[in-house]
Parts: sequence; structure tokens; C-alpha cells
Amino acid sequence: MLNKISGFADYLQKYQESIADPEKFWAQIAEANYWHKKWDQVVEWRFDGPKAPDVKWFLNAKLNITENIFERNMFLRKDQTALIWEPNDPAEKEIKLTYGELFDKVKQFANALLNLGVKKGDRVAIYLPMVPELAIAMMACARIGAIHSIIFAGFSSTALSDRIVDASAKVLITSDGGFRGNKIIPLKEIADEALKKSPSVEHAVVLKRTGKEITMTTGRDVWWHDVIKGMSTENKAEVMDAEDTLFILYTSGSTGKPKGVVHSQAGYMVYSEYTFKNVFQYSEGDMYWCTADIGWVTGHSYIIYGPLLAGATSIMFEGIPTFPDAGRFWDIVDKYKVNQIYTAPTAIRALMAQGDEWVESHDLSSLKVLGTVGEPINEEAWHWYHDMVGKGRCPIVDTWWQTETGGMLISPLAGITPTKPTMATLPLPGIQPILVDQEGNEIQGNAVQGILCIKYPWPGMLRTTWGDHDRCYQTYFSTFKGLYLTGDGAKRDEEGYYRIIGRIDDVINVSGHRIGTAEVEDAINEHPKVVESAVVGYPHPIKGSGIYAYVITESLSDEEQKNIEAEIRDTVNKLIGSIAKPDIIQLVSGLPKTRSGKIMRRILRKIGEGDATNLGDISTLLDPDVVEDIISGAKVEVKR
Ligand code: WTA
Repeated sequence: MLNKISGFADYLQKYQESIADPEKFWAQIAEANYWHKKWDQVVEWRFDGPKAPDVKWFLNAKLNITENIFERNMFLRKDQTALIWEPNDPAEKEIKLTYGELFDKVKQFANALLNLGVKKGDRVAIYLPMVPELAIAMMACARIGAIHSIIFAGFSSTALSDRIVDASAKVLITSDGGFRGNKIIPLKEIADEALKKSPSVEHAVVLKRTGKEITMTTGRDVWWHDVIKGMSTENKAEVMDAEDTLFILYTSGSTGKPKGVVHSQAGYMVYSEYTFKNVFQYSEGDMYWCTADIGWVTGHSYIIYGPLLAGATSIMFEGIPTFPDAGRFWDIVDKYKVNQIYTAPTAIRALMAQGDEWVESHDLSSLKVLGTVGEPINEEAWHWYHDMVGKGRCPIVDTWWQTETGGMLISPLAGITPTKPTMATLPLPGIQPILVDQEGNEIQGNAVQGILCIKYPWPGMLRTTWGDHDRCYQTYFSTFKGLYLTGDGAKRDEEGYYRIIGRIDDVINVSGHRIGTAEVEDAINEHPKVVESAVVGYPHPIKGSGIYAYVITESLSDEEQKNIEAEIRDTVNKLIGSIAKPDIIQLVSGLPKTRSGKIMRRILRKIGEGDATNLGDISTLLDPDVVEDIISGAKVEVKR
């Protein structure tokens, strides 16, 4: 297979080449793609200076990513299955779409979008459950050069409208509802709420999924099955510039509202395909399954774009790991004879807690590679995955990357890079990581720890944050001049292997989902009785991190006191979604603040971790006594 690394010596050599001459290296990879016009220059970049960041790959090249998925693959794969859809309820029949069938559906829906007035560069918001139409909708956007912004179907109406408004989306694609385990999520109802506050939306396209009764607003809402009626399956791809925007994906950071991470066409295409093939060591005919939701970046890059560009068969699963029972993942592996599975540590821990019998009762002999992503994997989960699920035969690829990076940056190559438990191991070709101290000085050598940055661009990296380029600079490039700041801390061991420790900023990885503490605080503070709050992450056995909220309220009646926690959770649920609901709420009389009014989160984090033995100097606090009050009222056991 083209561009596939074949062994560890080959990896080391490719890595050296990619560092010595990145332009030559990436040009060779990109040669395998289908271009209307090739680039004049491979890369042009600046992480600092006026209008920074300024990163361009494959300058002036012309392409369409869907031609690289479909037209390029068509000769070989017209009748090969591209996408397998496994429904939430195992009693419902799966759907298999060949490259040829999927292509027709993408073209047909592309024509429907054109017919609704969607043009190149317009934004289309997609708020759908994990159904094949989600994949079809996103590729239809790419086909006509519209920019998709997919919003995870677990987000609330406020979170949805915030994102629609920020991108001023012209069309929203949603459904009458979604199945998740034994629940039905009323997506259209939520979307209707959001649309009240989203004036840019001219049309909502509504897919029938649950058959639940919904209201359709005349003139605005149209059914999916109606808009595709009579639409041709002929559609000529829009020719895009390499640096045109392919999609926006909103993600949380330390401060403010989520930002729209912007990915562009050519670089993202080249990078997602290359990393998919190499990390999973994908071979012709393999069955590949990524359990993520397409609402997150993992689903974008490694359910849809990467695998389909590589001509793979990709499984998409509508449901959850524990429905109808804790054997569901293994049922699916057995049913489709899955070769590569890619999931999150939180799912592994949740299934581990259900007992080995769920795994042992299934035939998992098809598995060749086990992938993880989204948060640091702990030692116990790593071993269970390796020994119980993989029977010690399957390499684990612990893939470290981010929404902003577009694809994996540090990861073993399956069966090639010798693995070590809990380590993301080595950078992929083209990736130049660097560890720095608080002042930005490079920490050299091995057996060290520091803040993880990247010093050279790679094709899949973000280009800007939607509508606010300076925010992109401030967030990622201003802390250490000339470096991309990942926001993660990392160790580099004696052999140069990386282990990601976790976020160094106010972002919490809850079940592999990225949640900004500021967003949760803002939501909690919306409760009329709340005066102020501070949110931190704390170690959680299944979720990795849980959300611990310290809340100051006005004085409460007994009745109010009884309901306040549930009400706060409800408020967060309404404003963000259930993934951001605090696990622990502790009512406090005050928060540890410096004299300048800054909350000392370090102290709150320590208490949440159950360790008050080493709180550091608290004498600079405005009121040191609040610390004792918080410790004695803590909802976790605190060591003093
Ligand atoms: C964390 C998900 C440790 C990290 C693709 C990062 C990880 C954030 C790993 C990005 C890993 C992701 N080991 N931590 N293998 N993968 N992370 O944007 O903190 O949802 O910064 O992208 O997840 O989360 P995001």
C-alpha cells in the first residue's frame, strides 16, 4: 500500500527524512492524491509575527476531498463496503453501503443542498445522531465546498445555538430524534429551541429516524426524504483551493465560549489518510471500527475522512457500550470480525468494571490492533485491554492528539513501534515535539517532564479559530513564541518515549470529552440562587476526570437547600448538556482567593483529589480560613 511504513527501521528513517526535509517528505505523500492542480509550494508558515499564525500547505493546489474518497477509489472499490452502520438496537437491521452506493447518496444530498441555496463557503450546521445520513451530510457539504460544523447530539439547545450563531450557519441538518441505549433524545425539539435564537438559519433539514411526532415550521423546515426526492445522483465536485476551509469543529478551552477550530482542505486530507494507514497499519480488506461519535474530532478524522480516503471499510455505531448489555462492543467485534478497534479509556474502564465474563464469552480472535484516544490511559485499563481484550496478541496504539491537530501526533505504529503501558511513545513522521518549562526554555535530554509544544507545522493542524484569528494566536501561539502550545503536560522517558500526563490548563477530560471549567462555571452561575462557583477536575474511576463544583449560594430555605444540587445540575444540563453536569457539588461559604481576587484553583484541585497535605503557601489568600471550611465540608475523603 502506498505511503505505508513497513517496520521500525523504516519508521526511524522516514522520521529522519521528514525532519530533515519536510517539504520533500510531504510532497511525496501527497503525490498519491488526486489533484486538479498540484501545489506551487509545499509549505509556508509562521507561528509568530503579524497576523500569526500563518500556516499554508500545498499552496495553490486545487482539489476536492470527496473526489479522493470516491472518484479515486471507484475503479477498485465500487462494490466494496465503505460504511457499515450498526444500529442502537441490535434487533434492527444493519446498513451496509458500498463506495458506489455511498457516493450516489452523497451526490444526491449535495444536489439537495445546492437546491436549498447552499453555496461554496456557506456554513452548514449538523446536529444528528450516529446515522449514515450524518456521514452523507458531511461529505455532501465537502462535495459542494460548504463548510460543515457538526455539533455533538448530546449538546443542549443553548450550546447548539451558540455554535450556529458563531458560524452564522445557513442550514441546520437534524432529525426527529435519536436513539441512545433505551433513551430517545428529542433532537428536533432541542433544535427548535436553538433556532429561536439562530437568525442565520434559512432551512432546517429534518431526517426521520425515531418516527416521534414533531412540529415542522412551514417555509423553514423540510424533510430529508423530501429534499432528496427527484435529485440526480450526478454531481460535479466543486474545485477547492488547498487552503479553503473544510470544516469547523467547536472545542473547549481555558477561557470563554468554545471556539471554532478551522481545518482546511488539502493538509487535513493528506494528514488524516496518512496517519490512519500507518498508525493502524491498515491492510486491504481489514474491518475497522472506531467507536467515537462523529460529533467529536475522532469521528471526523477516523470514522469518516481518514478511513474512507484510504479505501477502508469503516463501521459506525449508533448506540452505547452497555446497551442492551455490557457485551455489546464484543458482539459487534464478533459480528463483523473487526480487525482494528479504536475507543476511549473511559469505555475500557467502564467495560472492565462489568467483569471479564462479557469479554470471555465472545470470539475476539479477529482483532489485530487496539487503539485508544481522548485521555491518558491508566496502567490497569491498559493491561486489561491488552491482556483480556487482545489476549496479549494485539498491539495497543495509544494515540495522542487534539481537535486542533486534525490527526494523531504521537502514537505507536501498530506492531512496529515497541509499546510500553500508558505511553503514547514516539512522534509520527513530520511531528517535532518539544518540552519546555514555565518560561518556555527547552528541556533537553531524556527522563524529563515539561509542557508539550510542537515546533514545526504539520499538514493537519488548525489554521485559525472561526471569526477570531487573534484568539487562535492568543490561545496557542502567544505563550511561547514560535511554538504551538498543546495545553498538555508530558514526560519523556529514558528512551525518548512520551507519556501524556494531562492538561495543564483549565480544561477537564471527562470521559474523553473536553470540558472547559469556565463554561461550566458560567452555566452554574446562571442559577438564580448561585453567587459564585469554581469548578475543577478530580480523579474518577471510570470517567478519568469527574467535575467537582464548589458553589457559593445566597441563603437558602430548607426546601431550597434540598433541591439546589439537582437544580444546579439541571441548569448545566440545559445550558451545555449532560456531559458537563458536575459529579460533585459542594456548597461553600467562600472560595480561596488571592488579594487580587483570583481563585486559587490549585488548592481546590488538591482538595478534590483528597489531598490537603501539601497545599503550599496559603498565607497570601484574602481569607485563609475558607480553606479549612472547604476541607471539612469536602465530599471526598481528604488526607490532611
Ligand atoms: C487528551 C481528542 C492522553 C489531551 C482527539 C488532549 C490524550 C485532549 C490522549 C484533546 C492520549 C487525547 N493520551 N491524553 N492518547 N488523546 N488526550 O480535542 O489532554 O477532544 O489535549 O481531541 O485530550 O481532546 P480533543
